[in-house]
Amino acid sequence: MRRKLLAAAICATLSALGLVALSTTATADPLRSHAGSRFIGYALNLTAQGSDASYRTVGAREFNIVTAENAMKFDATEPNQNQFTFGQADQVVAAAQANNQQIHGHTLVWHSQTPGWIQGLGATQMRAAMQNHINTVVGRYANSVRSWDVVNEAFNEDGSFRQSFWFNTLGQSYIADAFRFARAADPDAELCINDFNTDGMGAKSNGLFNLVQSLVQQGVPINCVGFQGHLAIQFSFPNQVQQNFQRFANLGLNVKITELDVRMQNPRDATKDNTQATYYRNMVNACLAVTRCNQITIWGFTDRYSWVPETFPSECCALLYDQNYSPKPAYTAVHDALGGNEPVPPDPTPPTTPGTPAASNVTSNSANLTWAASTDTGGSGLAGYNIYRRQGTTDTLLSQSTTNSTTLTGLTPSTQYVVVVRARDGAGNLSPTSATATFTTLAGPVTGTCQVAYTATNWGGGGGFTGGVTITNTGTAAINGWTLAFSFPAGQRVSQGWSATWNQPQGSANVTATPLSWNTTIPPSSSVQIGFNGSFTGSSNPEPTAFTINNTACTVV
Ligand code: XIL
Repeated sequence: MRRKLLAAAICATLSALGLVALSTTATADPLRSHAGSRFIGYALNLTAQGSDASYRTVGAREFNIVTAENAMKFDATEPNQNQFTFGQADQVVAAAQANNQQIHGHTLVWHSQTPGWIQGLGATQMRAAMQNHINTVVGRYANSVRSWDVVNEAFNEDGSFRQSFWFNTLGQSYIADAFRFARAADPDAELCINDFNTDGMGAKSNGLFNLVQSLVQQGVPINCVGFQGHLAIQFSFPNQVQQNFQRFANLGLNVKITELDVRMQNPRDATKDNTQATYYRNMVNACLAVTRCNQITIWGFTDRYSWVPETFPSECCALLYDQNYSPKPAYTAVHDALGGNEPVPPDPTPPTTPGTPAASNVTSNSANLTWAASTDTGGSGLAGYNIYRRQGTTDTLLSQSTTNSTTLTGLTPSTQYVVVVRARDGAGNLSPTSATATFTTLAGPVTGTCQVAYTATNWGGGGGFTGGVTITNTGTAAINGWTLAFSFPAGQRVSQGWSATWNQPQGSANVTATPLSWNTTIPPSSSVQIGFNGSFTGSSNPEPTAFTINNTACTVV
């Protein structure tokens, strides 16, 4: 006992002199021991990891998940096309695994820290390069990275899409494509979209919400939404963070705080430290209040290594420990919020069985389903429904719905579907399975030997856009003379086109394009590219989903 006290006294004295880092020698009660079923993490700075033993000690002791601050970004992993450099990313993975920590991957598709070579490519090559990048990086870490920021910072502050090179070249479909490519490379990883200034309710988080909701409805493989949480005490705390997190959770997605830090203007003082602690506590509490919020990651942990002073020159001190590894009020706030959190009350009771679904409006590729709602009495509340296709003894998830009806899309023509529904509650309990509904989709159009790629590039505001259509002859015989037909889903209009004769009757969504003399013939394996300027109303410009050439459906890529 005497020895311990003496050691502590010496340690404290040395620490006050800045000679030893007190908290790196203490073994108290680290954050990770209070994480429960959640993850509590930090962004790992590889330079610090390599040179600073105190950094290594605290990082390993306090956290149970690691994000590479820079090492997994595009410029670090594929600086030249198809030349992959995984040295730094591998070091992060090795460090995390040595400390029994999980890994959150950051990030695959972003406008920043992405090499120039991909930014100048045309649409077809850019999409292929994106696919190759995602496939290679996600594939390499499929057994070690548990979750990925697939798309980072896709929004402007007003909730419109950021006019990044990705968006400008590929249109908004780059987002869904990125998720599909990531899912193909790793069937198990949690796949997130991530952004900043989306923590509270507002125009930007509304834009994100609308996108995420439509991705879920389309069956795009997205599992989580990351809220960066780069806050500053000179700005007010974001609005209704918990409610904002909850609306995303209600879509059936997990929620994560991915890059939390709370900066202040120089110089640091005790009052600012306390305000900062309150911001940290509020963020942690917002996450803890949402059952599906399963990760809180801080963007570093010591003010010795932080992106803040470089990025915001008059600001500092955004993290939990000071430069000498002494815990600040912010550390105590996070620690106590985690520790003081009552465990989520157990809810072993699943919801009641949903009613037998009824199918209506069956087309060649879609059908509506409605069923009598379930109730949940276990305390966590009804969260939604899973809709499955039954084939023999296997039920495969087709879609999820937060209400007692859904529209199934992407079905196969002329096919019998047997479907069942199960309700979910907030604790993840599934109800018994409903009785079956059986319906058969109508015959679909015959798919011919054409392939269509459509792009839409919105102009900066004003509802104008440039549309492009690439028609490829995928058959073995030449196409001599063609009529392309499609219909706009949201009232868009063609105003003027090129490389074809464009026609869109007044008041109609249907568009046709016929060739000019020089592109009447499309030889096998060849393409023609045609385009137009058009207009859309409101904030979204969804793409047509079906195209025909000479009345025969084309594959859409
Ligand atoms: C930052 C890193 O912390 C810096 O080291 C780097 O110079 C720039 O990027 N949002 C993100 C992170 O998604 O990747 C950024 O990280 C911080 C803002």
